[in-house]
Amino acid sequence: MSLQRTFIMVKPDGVKRGLIGEIIKRFEQKGFTLLNAELMTIDRSKAEYHYMEHQEKPFFGELVDFITSGPVFAMAWEGENVIEVSRLMIGKTDPSEAMPGTIRGDFAAAKEENVIHGSDSLLSAEREIENFFGLLKRRSLEDDFPFEDR
Ligand code: PPS
Repeated sequence: MSLQRTFIMVKPDGVKRGLIGEIIKRFEQKGFTLLNAELMTIDRSKAEYHYMEHQEKPFFGELVDFITSGPVFAMAWEGENVIEVSRLMIGKTDPSEAMPGTIRGDFAAAKEENVIHGSDSLLSAEREIENFFGLLKRRSLEDDFPFEDR
């Protein structure tokens, strides 16, 4: 077991369809810890950096158009093996192959608009979290509620 961090993003179609709460609920129920979250509209350079490993793919332009088309809900989560477990919770990229019970299996209909993104490795998680949030400070209850304020 290893304590990891991952980057999860509700894509513009998921935000439009009101799925943010459902997605947060699933990650919280699984026992993962939310470290940071923000509703934001991203520019093309942030989107191109985020999807850099796909820049040679024929769909790269459409992918960047889509992800910059409206607000996304960006999150950093922490937990045991959270990278691999969250990819299982998200389901296959193509929603027609995603199992019922997974987020894409339950809510997505097309590969181009498949509701949610999750990092696929330790290296991309680190790069993606930094791209969206900068260097993430470890948060604890003590940061938000110091003893003198209680
Ligand atoms: S690949 O070719 O297997 O590496 O690509 P894949 O992992 O299937 O998809 C990578 C991300 O691109 C999105 N995608 C698309 N966007 C627009 N048009 C088309 N045709 C398309 N095909 C795949 C897919 O949703 C993946 O997004 P993320 O956010 O990484 O899940």
